[in-house]
Amino acid sequence: MDRFRLRCTCCNKAIAFELKGRCTCGGSLLVEYDLEQVAAKLSPNTLLGRTASMWRYKELLPVLHEQSIVSLGEGGTPLIRMPRLERELEVRQLFVKREEQNPTGSFKARGFSSTISLLHEYGVTKVAVPSNGNAASAMAAYAARAGMQAVVLVPRDCPGIIIEECMRFGAFTFQVRGLIHDAGAIIEAGKAEQGWFNAGTLREPGRVEGKKTMGLELAEQLGWRLPDVIVYPTGGGSGIVGLWKAFRELHELGWLQSELPRLVSVQERGCTPIVDALRNGDTQVQPAPEPVSSSPTGLRVPNPPDGSLIASILRRTGGTAVSVTAEQIAEAQRRLGLEGLSSSPEAAATLAGAIQLRAQGWIRPKESVVLFHTAHADKYLPWKPSPEPPTVENYEQLKLWLPS
Ligand SMILES: Cc1ncc(COP(=O)(O)O)c(C=O)c1O
Repeated sequence: MDRFRLRCTCCNKAIAFELKGRCTCGGSLLVEYDLEQVAAKLSPNTLLGRTASMWRYKELLPVLHEQSIVSLGEGGTPLIRMPRLERELEVRQLFVKREEQNPTGSFKARGFSSTISLLHEYGVTKVAVPSNGNAASAMAAYAARAGMQAVVLVPRDCPGIIIEECMRFGAFTFQVRGLIHDAGAIIEAGKAEQGWFNAGTLREPGRVEGKKTMGLELAEQLGWRLPDVIVYPTGGGSGIVGLWKAFRELHELGWLQSELPRLVSVQERGCTPIVDALRNGDTQVQPAPEPVSSSPTGLRVPNPPDGSLIASILRRTGGTAVSVTAEQIAEAQRRLGLEGLSSSPEAAATLAGAIQLRAQGWIRPKESVVLFHTAHADKYLPWKPSPEPPTVENYEQLKLWLPS
């Protein structure tokens, strides 16, 4: 086997690596490494001498040549213990993984460092993404760094600072009437004519791999012992897929000195397709019923591209999914503020979810818990982007704004 290949999570077929996210059967394709080759080069000891970047795990990332790597200093984020919250929640340990310290203020930097590096390696020059915001600004930043043309499409209520950031990074930036999947449909309509690579969730293998480094890093920071419970804010779901993949690879490498954690997805009431599927015992995730009424954040993904994979991962780990209200999120933002943390709604949703699960007894007093603090509050402050980017309803309208 080459150093890595792709395997379908649905029909289990293995194929040679390519820039492809979907199998012919419709399942998601994830990277599978030859872990014997990895183990010959990488060990917990070899890691000790490497810099604090997600690329310290390069043997577990699908980029072949170091010169392809497009980096802005992602990864190496702090893991901090929260003694007061431990006492309040009555749990043995509570940690926050500070992903807001990544470039562009969110964990999305990891996914796009990896995706844009891969695209760079394969000679892609134009990339487009549908996003609720943070993915758009991360992609725009990494595309700028790589000298690629970027096109980003976000819903009209996307936070203004994020839109401004995309424009400053030089991306062709558009607002869309509708939600993230409407943005995705416009990209699909134009990609052949424009030569765009659609870097949406689970459309290529790089993003999950970049997000996987959150799990590798967490394990390393905790001395290769994982917590009992991880709470993660879930939208498209590649964060959960990445964490699960990290722990499975570490387990197969034999580096872990603990059981695998129970993974928890948090979503906001008004758009909870994963929570609903788990509650109803469904293996297929149904799109969230209209009208979708949750806040405009990264959690507002009514129809995740591979919801059934996320649901099956949560079940397999003994985990769950929990719905929190906008008020509970706002309260958690205030509470984290009193700990010196500036939290985006998605980041604070993890504390709101943990409080709920502790109150239900699902998280037990003797357990250790990690919250993934995925983005900074600043990105959500009121801001009017200047100039206001065009709003488009379809590809024909968008095309008029592109250079001919
Ligand atoms: C800050 C933040 N947290 C969490 C999520 C959800 O992540 P995922 O798409 O991996 O489920 C997003 C997605 O946009 C986000 O921006």
